Amino acid sequence: MSKPRYQQEEWREKMKIRLDVNNMFANQIGEKHGFTPEDINNLEKRLVAAHKSIKEAKQEGKLGFMELPETQKEVANKIKKLVAEKRNEFDNFVVLGIGGSALGSIALRTAFTNSYDQKAPRLFISDNVDPTKFKEMLKTLDLEKTVFNVISKSGGTAETMSQFLIARDLVAKELGEDKIAEHFIATTSKDSGKLIKIAQKEGMETFHIPDNVGGRFSVLTPVGLLPAAFCGINIEELLAGAEYMDRRCDTDDIWKNPAYLNATLQYLADQNGKRISVMMPYVDKLKDIADWYRQLWAESLGKEKNREGDIVNVGPTPIKALGTTDQHSQVQLYMAGPYDKVITFLTVDDYGAEVEIPEEYSEIEEVSYLGGHTLNELITTEQTATELALTKRQRLNATINLPRVNEFTIGQLFYMLELQTAFAGELYNINAFNQPGVELGKNYTYGVLGRKDYEEMKEEYESRTQKDDKLIL
Ligand code: PA5
Repeated sequence: MSKPRYQQEEWREKMKIRLDVNNMFANQIGEKHGFTPEDINNLEKRLVAAHKSIKEAKQEGKLGFMELPETQKEVANKIKKLVAEKRNEFDNFVVLGIGGSALGSIALRTAFTNSYDQKAPRLFISDNVDPTKFKEMLKTLDLEKTVFNVISKSGGTAETMSQFLIARDLVAKELGEDKIAEHFIATTSKDSGKLIKIAQKEGMETFHIPDNVGGRFSVLTPVGLLPAAFCGINIEELLAGAEYMDRRCDTDDIWKNPAYLNATLQYLADQNGKRISVMMPYVDKLKDIADWYRQLWAESLGKEKNREGDIVNVGPTPIKALGTTDQHSQVQLYMAGPYDKVITFLTVDDYGAEVEIPEEYSEIEEVSYLGGHTLNELITTEQTATELALTKRQRLNATINLPRVNEFTIGQLFYMLELQTAFAGELYNINAFNQPGVELGKNYTYGVLGRKDYEEMKEEYESRTQKDDKLIL
């Protein structure tokens, strides 16, 4: 039997993703906004220290996401086995999760499934608690044919646990209490939090999120792999892509390491007043990778304090856009507005489909020139034209190119962006793996909803400065 394609060196080489940072440099952009190789070389000591720190943290088992390409191979087998059983019984797979417990699956679903196709298997991802939308989703489901995957690393997130309580109640009422174990799977921390206890009590199938992998870095754990496998995505190839990128990035030579180089340039851009980082795929299938990355970049790098505890209030603002759609929405601002952005294009060489534009209306020059071309030519030309226009206007931009969208290239991309984020965290000298900023809002919610031990938060909430009616028009 021949080796799977992701183990064939020639195919892997062909599927290597590329980072093009030409347009971040003065040669292309001009001296006012562009960088020089010296700007990078001047950071050498810090870059070496950052690399060392990542290596050490990896060795100490603190950077769990770097271990996943290896450790999840066995987990992938368990997932495949379960999916083989469940796919016969169920048409609908519903993820109940939020933030890092949902965005990776959404990105994978967009990359690999046909959103217009309503045939089973269907993946639903409910990552909000909007009552209308949640009710609409539940009404759509044939419960007999539905399996719910409750995903929460902490096992206590209010949104996810509320959704679980509602879905559980529905299944119990419509199908019977004895059907809970069959219709629910839990993905959570192995031994902390309450979800694992509930899952054990109910006899649910469980998958674990390693303790050293944070939510937004967890797409290559069962968090992303299980829903992906249910949709027929090749999860072994995803892991192989990540492993391939891990090897590529195992060097302290910044000029050979795409994750480090991109992190460094994004960091320098931010330090130079380009505080907004736009990710703009020209591939619909990658549009939710930009959304996943937006969370990864924002929650990891937006920090009040540095590692020494000093107030620094750092963090670039990530924005997602889509080409060509947002050429008719955002690009005016990117071209002509303040010099406060760096644009990262995501492109593919091969869209996997070609659509010809028919030749018609030869008498109408404004339309007839399109005939004989393809949509592929149109979208790629629009991307390169936008890139050139931005460059001419001295706007920093870079491109990450995928030969095509497949599990191997997406695995590389996930891993590269995760490592880039960890490396950027080193440069900002912050902890990229916590999220203390989201706690206060959560704690007020707990207080107001009457959670034990949050009574003070309720008091604080209720004694807040009242709003001035004159300012509400
Ligand atoms: O990246 C993170 O840690 C967060 O975005 C979490 O994924 C999100 O808050 C959901 O947490 P949990 O998986 O514990 O329900």
